[in-house]
Amino acid sequence: MFDNEPNLTDLDFEASVAQSLALSPPRIASKWLYDDKGAILFEGIVSSPDYYVGRAELEILDAHAGEIGAALGAGGSLVELGSGASTKVRKLLDAMPRLGRYVPVEISEAQLLEAAATLRDDYPGLEIVPIAADFTKDFDLTAVVGDGPVLGFFPGSTLCNLLPANSEAFLRRMHGLLGPDSFFLAGVDLHKEPEVLLAAYNEPGGAIWDFNLNILDRMNRELGTGLDRADFRHEAIYNADLRRIEAAIYPLRDIVVRVAGQTFDLPAEQPIVLEYSHKYTLETFAALAARAGWHTVDAWTDHNQLFSMHFLTNRSPA
Ligand code: AVI
Repeated sequence: MFDNEPNLTDLDFEASVAQSLALSPPRIASKWLYDDKGAILFEGIVSSPDYYVGRAELEILDAHAGEIGAALGAGGSLVELGSGASTKVRKLLDAMPRLGRYVPVEISEAQLLEAAATLRDDYPGLEIVPIAADFTKDFDLTAVVGDGPVLGFFPGSTLCNLLPANSEAFLRRMHGLLGPDSFFLAGVDLHKEPEVLLAAYNEPGGAIWDFNLNILDRMNRELGTGLDRADFRHEAIYNADLRRIEAAIYPLRDIVVRVAGQTFDLPAEQPIVLEYSHKYTLETFAALAARAGWHTVDAWTDHNQLFSMHFLTNRSPA
């Protein structure tokens, strides 16, 4: 479905990596970073002092969860895409005592089931329907959510990891998934000084480094590539023209690797791109959402104006 990322979605890990390594520059789909170990390593990034996203987003949810719940109304469904440990959603659940059900959707089944079990203990009256799925692919929610209003929840600025055209396509696809009477709450990172961004996305030897180099461990484990972490470094740069962070690993020497029966040269210091993280203004994101058929109900920032949450609806204006 993501037109500009043909290598990134419908292939299995081996075929996707082989296709990615043939690109110039090579670009491995960021979703492969989030295996069970990657999901745990990512939690380390979220708590690092320079990565403001989680803190800013919680501040916004604290301030606005009540009005979001009021707009959704009684008996609605809250569908979280890429729910991980289902931590942030608690701000919404706490403010929505009349919610009908919570539907976490997560590719890492182990993490999904663990999070659902914990939530069942903490919210005994709430129906929880976990779905193990890759939300970049089609799946059906109609049997789960019925006819009531639905709120799609996509925090953490994962939308910003897609190329803008693909974010737009994704938001357009959400109409079909969530239904004709729905809301969508998206975390969207804001454009800001490059120094702040670079501090948030670079941490030599730290959690981000470990998280990105984990792709080598996964390739070794699942594809038998025999790569050595010590032969690579991680660095994120800011591309000011395209307003995005470009995170990559760089071989420290010329390396030759075999994947899916093919041989690839990985020259020293040629980046292997792992993730783009696009940065928007409130206006550029609202315009993107409008092109995808969503009206902006409201858009909020944290007090430092580092991060935003956009509350959208596809209800026709009254
Ligand atoms: C998952 N995603 C929203 C993060 C981001 O900010 O783009 C991924 C990340 N990679 C390194 N730090 C954070």
